[in-house]
Amino acid sequence: MILVTGGAGFIGSNFVLDWLATQDEPLVNLDKLTYAGNPANLASLADDARHTFVHGDVCDAALLQQLLQAHQPRAIVHFAAESHVDRSIHGAADFIDANIMGTYRLLEAARGYWAALPTGRQDAFRFVHVSTDEVYGSLAPDAPAFAEDHRYAPNSPYSASKAAADHLVRAWHQTYGLPVLTSNCSNNYGPYQFPEKLIPLLILNALAGKSLPIYGDGRQVRDWLYVGDHCSAIRRILARGAPGQVYNVGGWNEKTNLEIVHAVCALLDALRPRADGQPYARQLRHVQDRPGHDRRYAIDARKIERELGWRPAETFETGIRKTVQWYLDHPDWVAGVQSGAYRDWLSTQYGATDEEV
Ligand code: NAD
Ligand code: TYD
Repeated sequence: MILVTGGAGFIGSNFVLDWLATQDEPLVNLDKLTYAGNPANLASLADDARHTFVHGDVCDAALLQQLLQAHQPRAIVHFAAESHVDRSIHGAADFIDANIMGTYRLLEAARGYWAALPTGRQDAFRFVHVSTDEVYGSLAPDAPAFAEDHRYAPNSPYSASKAAADHLVRAWHQTYGLPVLTSNCSNNYGPYQFPEKLIPLLILNALAGKSLPIYGDGRQVRDWLYVGDHCSAIRRILARGAPGQVYNVGGWNEKTNLEIVHAVCALLDALRPRADGQPYARQLRHVQDRPGHDRRYAIDARKIERELGWRPAETFETGIRKTVQWYLDHPDWVAGVQSGAYRDWLSTQYGATDEEV
């Protein structure tokens, strides 16, 4: 079996659902259920004996030790983190705790467990650390995309905390020989993404008749990957990756934020037109830019293709259509995440721009 951390969040829950849909190996899912962790993402597994959910914190060393001893996993896939740049700007403490201390505690627990395994199981053990392209900082418009040897230059408290975690993971391999693998992936989108992130925020604000807030000029570039493709890349890294290696994962899909908002609006115009027949794009509003906002991310995904034979299955057009359709088809899930705490976040972050337009 495998141990997954953060498997009630956006990517983690997609990974858990895909894992159990494609293979029979059981998994233990350790998640603290912060605002971003949502048991509803895993509701379809309620009667699935292969899924064991544990409500707990990756910073809890005793719990980690007990879980590893009790379940004897052959691998750990580490998603658990605070993940939202804007929240990290409002307060970094949770990011330091979860992303840095949490990764440290997990590495230490894994090292103790792994060191005591018999040789065959020790050789087969893997620790997959799920990280982000944001650790590399911002690219100039014509600069080549991030390869694995690009220097680290994180610019937000979030990316700095992920960079620190990546360095710890590397050190635990170099110093102790722990068989770690790191993936640095670009922006994901798809089902179950919490609507503080750009794409679900746009979909839900559009449908609610609210403004579509675009930071600054909206010409910032992100390299978007459908979440199912990220999950298949992680499965491939776990199965075939070489310990100690880093793999950059991306969709070859650079888009400006303005292109994203217009793509989402066009799909909604077709799938769920506004009652007054007006285009959703009329709800677009430019708002104050994010401090330290990285201008461009782009991933050079040639290493994972060359060495592990992985390529994304979705284009941006197929992935974004599936995603918009999923949010339209799941009003109960949407209602569940739009709690009082979520509304408080919207007013903290967007203030008066959250009016109906
Ligand atoms: P998310 O915020 O949706 O989910 C994070 C999950 O981790 C939640 O279920 C939360 O409850 C859990 N968690 C947080 N702190 C915890 C703790 N101390 N102990 C146990 N569980 C805890 O995040 P996501 O978008 O699914 O991202 C998952 C991972 O992938 C993160 O490590 C993130 O840095 C990385 N990543 C995300 C993206 C992206 O576009 N979303 C891209 C590349 C990499
Ligand atoms: P986000 O989904 O927060 O991901 P990240 O900051 O990790 O890349 O944001 C994606 C891009 O969209 C980023 O350039 C910031 C921008 N953005 C907006 O313009 N408006 C918004 O309301 C949000 C949440 C993001």
